[in-house]
Amino acid sequence: MNRSYAVLAALACLTLTTASAAPRTWQQIKDSGTLHLATEGTFPPFNAYAGKQLVGFEIDLGNALGRTLGVKVEWVTQPFDTLLIGLNQGRYDAVLASHAITPEREKAVDFLKPHYCSTVNIVAKKGGPTTRAALRGKSVGSQVGTAQLPVLRQIPGIADVRTYPNDQTVLTALMSGRVDAWSSNGPVVAYMLKQAKLQDKVVIGEAISKERNAGAVAKGNKTLHDALNQALSKVMADGTYAKLSAQWFGQDIRCK
Ligand code: ARG
Repeated sequence: MNRSYAVLAALACLTLTTASAAPRTWQQIKDSGTLHLATEGTFPPFNAYAGKQLVGFEIDLGNALGRTLGVKVEWVTQPFDTLLIGLNQGRYDAVLASHAITPEREKAVDFLKPHYCSTVNIVAKKGGPTTRAALRGKSVGSQVGTAQLPVLRQIPGIADVRTYPNDQTVLTALMSGRVDAWSSNGPVVAYMLKQAKLQDKVVIGEAISKERNAGAVAKGNKTLHDALNQALSKVMADGTYAKLSAQWFGQDIRCK
């Protein structure tokens, strides 16, 4: 390695170490009194802003986990495709943002037990493509960084898979005819269509995948992984989870 390379490499190391910290152990979090959770904030009714307030099933659930563990919870929001990177950089302790457990992601982070199960569906305006077969020659939009993107790209004959910053921007693209279909998690689509009063104009079609959706901690953060999983089991057994799920979805969405 020549000298300028060595200087560059040293600089790169420095930036990396100053930008990231080791993930905090459960003991360190407990001693500090505050658990730092990250989510995305445009995925109703799981995590979304109502004005300036962060609300949703995952927000209530995360706060319940904090209460169970006896610590305060502080939330930060970041774009979806940056959440798992920041987690391994120690920018926050855990992520709760409806991530599907996938083999690919499991290489990077440690998932908690799933806090719900859901499908990913194909959605279109009435008369538009709502099945895999109907997507031949058509375009579909999805949030960037999501697990459904590789699934969509494998649909035979699909013309174009476009990524958008979030589901709201995909819905706008669908309604203005810039894409033929939208793909996202069923409960999110149902909630957003209801909110936008579009249930009569838009159809929720075929499920293209089934997901186990879970929170995550940094790779190897075993003490926090155990503490959060125990807290999750507790709220899932003592009625807290059932109450929150009924409140947000009118049904219990835990994995059967
Ligand atoms: N379930 C999908 C995935 O795992 C989408 C999750 C999007 N989450 C969000 N908070 N926007 O990729």
